[in-house]
Amino acid sequence: MYALELKNIAQRLMADDKGLLAMDESLGTCNNRFKALGIPQTEEFRRKYRELIVTTPCLEESISGAILFDETIYQKTESGISFLEILERKGIIAGIKVDQGTVNLPAFPGEKITEGLDGMGERLAGYYKLGLRFAKFRAVITIDKGNPTKTCIKANAFTLARYAALCQEAGIVPVVEPEVLMDGDHTLQQCAAVTQDVLHAVFNELYEQRVSLEGMILKPNMILPGLNCPDQSDTEEISSETVSAFLKLIPAAVGGIAFLSGGQAYQLASERLNMMQLRFGTLMPWSLTFSFSRAIQQPALEIWKGEDKNKEAAQKMLQHRAACNSAARRAEYTPEMEALLI
Ligand code: 13P
Repeated sequence: MYALELKNIAQRLMADDKGLLAMDESLGTCNNRFKALGIPQTEEFRRKYRELIVTTPCLEESISGAILFDETIYQKTESGISFLEILERKGIIAGIKVDQGTVNLPAFPGEKITEGLDGMGERLAGYYKLGLRFAKFRAVITIDKGNPTKTCIKANAFTLARYAALCQEAGIVPVVEPEVLMDGDHTLQQCAAVTQDVLHAVFNELYEQRVSLEGMILKPNMILPGLNCPDQSDTEEISSETVSAFLKLIPAAVGGIAFLSGGQAYQLASERLNMMQLRFGTLMPWSLTFSFSRAIQQPALEIWKGEDKNKEAAQKMLQHRAACNSAARRAEYTPEMEALLI
């Protein structure tokens, strides 16, 4: 019923060298990041922080869509304007995280499955009425001795496709996020093999469950060595492994690809996206952009530290990181750009 609308929204999200801003940290994740910086973990401080983000000047020049957490969609600025209205005025499409986090996969030690499918149709209908037009659901896959198992990959792929089908039925573009985690000492090649298995399973399930590929966005990890792997690989290897896996496994019909950052250093995330565009931009049948949380927000959060006097400087940093990633999408990012921030 919504096929054309879904395709148009996916196209708008991927348009004009922009990317997505993930600002959908759950209460637990947001509070942990606040705690690490000594920021009070209260609803009011989360509201202040999200106000800082949505009111950042010129954010809309680099950001096409913002993924929000449920609490945030009902919040307002100090002066009483709803965050959803602020985003609308800026032409930034509002999206929503709809997964409810991960739990242990029974009988599969060390593996996780994502929850949130129960009652999702109803929740999505409510979000559509509020004007939200895309949603995100994240599954996590861990590389460790013997893991991931085929069962874990299959269960998560099935869940992601169920979520995607429910979204499309509700007129909401699904952002399908199967994240192979960077934690561990695995090599680049191990990550490549696992990511390929995961993408294969996910697209198989999306096809089985009749999800329209034009009306969805894939949010994958880059193919990277584990954080504790002695060989950290260079940007060229990372970009070729990632793009060649994607060319093999991601159908050309997909509405777009927007990377998660997954805990990479923020300059590296920009540098790697840039390298993929520079070397393979003309070969890729889909648009490739970013949907970062930490790689856009973290430096700004570290400047803000919960204090009003730091708000402007934090917003400058946020705008800068968003602009660096938009430049990376155009293959125009250089490390020298980092020095341009005053
Ligand atoms: P990171 O960019 O910090 O990985 O977050 C992206 C995201 O949406 C995680 O679900």
